[in-house]
Amino acid sequence: MSYFLGIDTSTTATKALLMRASGAVVAVASSEYPYETPRPLWSEQHPNLWWGATVASIRQVLADSGVDPARVAGVGLTGQMHGLVLLDEAGQVLRPAILWNDQRTGAQCDEIRRRLGKARLIRLTGNDALTGFTAPKILWVQEHEPDLFARARHILLPKDYVRYKLTGDFATDRADAAGALLFDIEARDWSTEVLDALEIPAAWLPRTHEGPEVTGQISTDAALATGLRAGTPVVGGGGDQAAAAVGVGAVAPGIIALTLGTSGVVFASTDRPLVEPEGRLHAFCHAVPGRWHLMGVMLSAAGSLRWYRDTLAPGVGFDALLAPAAETPTGSEGLLFLPYLTGERTPHPDPLARGAFVGLTVRHTQPHLTRAVLEGVAFGLRDSFELIKSTGQTEIRQVRASGGGAKSPLWLSILANVFDVELVTVNTAEGAAYGAALLAAVGAGAWPDVDTACQQSIHVTGVTTPRPDEVGRYDRTYAIYRDLYPALRALSHRLGET
Ligand code: XUL
Repeated sequence: MSYFLGIDTSTTATKALLMRASGAVVAVASSEYPYETPRPLWSEQHPNLWWGATVASIRQVLADSGVDPARVAGVGLTGQMHGLVLLDEAGQVLRPAILWNDQRTGAQCDEIRRRLGKARLIRLTGNDALTGFTAPKILWVQEHEPDLFARARHILLPKDYVRYKLTGDFATDRADAAGALLFDIEARDWSTEVLDALEIPAAWLPRTHEGPEVTGQISTDAALATGLRAGTPVVGGGGDQAAAAVGVGAVAPGIIALTLGTSGVVFASTDRPLVEPEGRLHAFCHAVPGRWHLMGVMLSAAGSLRWYRDTLAPGVGFDALLAPAAETPTGSEGLLFLPYLTGERTPHPDPLARGAFVGLTVRHTQPHLTRAVLEGVAFGLRDSFELIKSTGQTEIRQVRASGGGAKSPLWLSILANVFDVELVTVNTAEGAAYGAALLAAVGAGAWPDVDTACQQSIHVTGVTTPRPDEVGRYDRTYAIYRDLYPALRALSHRLGET
């Protein structure tokens, strides 16, 4: 009997998941860490935290399961995307990693567009310059910490620092690499043109692999630290969004993954490198060889509901909070919520965007506000869904919902009606770590390819169908929702200056 290990280096914790070759989850362990906001808009984390948590969670999952490490036949890595890890010649960390949710690099994004031209940048990398991506962070260090930058010799993404500690290799997978804004997504390799324009030495970047491809083996030192067997193969894996899509079986065109975590993601696999011409959607390589994906990212999805509960109904459980909202009329009697509580990415790449309740009257009670939050998030996610449809990715056969928010039947029915699609839920709930374990199993030969792995381990457990009368009502409210951001944009920016 073989087992496979998926390791997810997220923003808040490292999770280790042990899976049987059949796809059944045996044990999960996780070890948490904080992140720092040393200045407004900054977000940093020291890579040592990831390594410490990796060691702790692997040891824990092996102990809890009682599985003999010699039976672990492969390890897959995933994690938060876009973060910048800089190492010196000796492989020592030079500064805390600058994370995906750091917003300090507005000026560097402008500079990247100036050097390459926005259209050319999108043509080459699939994406416009966003503050979250890696390339502007490199330029920021170059400009603000030149002495430190002069000592840099290696650039890694967060989960690939863990790979370096596990195997000694400088390597990454192509899904995560695509989020660096230095990657030619069509060629599935680093873009010489972008690297030259930004004066970043190609030798500093890790070599790239497909998600299920073996990139190296657990080293003797890492075996001592983690309890794994030296020589255990480690595969490329994927950035957390691509790995999570594998984890719900969204690997081929036609199946959309809708994730309702702190952030909200609409993810569509493609079999060619489709790009949204204005760069409003992210266009990255998939963790599946020869596939790509489009993705819209809402920064505060279930995060909006959590903020709302913590602020306006502290101590109330989510079930108790949501039950009365189910009795409230569709459209919350003319109350709208804008979910831009931490700025936004898709479709408005605006770190200064702000949230709002619009349309309050004395008729509105707390259940109206609750429902408006659920509806506002659904409208914001529909923006991404519409953009995906507009790129010609029209053959949408199924939308698979996952993440904490997908546990709410009310939210699922609102989403089905706002999107006018059938939403399904699946048997797997462990997200990116599960996807990484599946990629490890494919890499070790337990399944011939990712499609087969997903078909054999993931199945539909629930279906939510749209109701035509509700769809029509939501269509009319969505038209008003779409006009809100442009109407409030300048005001939000001015409020940010007060
Ligand atoms: C994806 C993204 C986040 C991070 C953190 O573009 O920024 O999903 O990967 O989870």
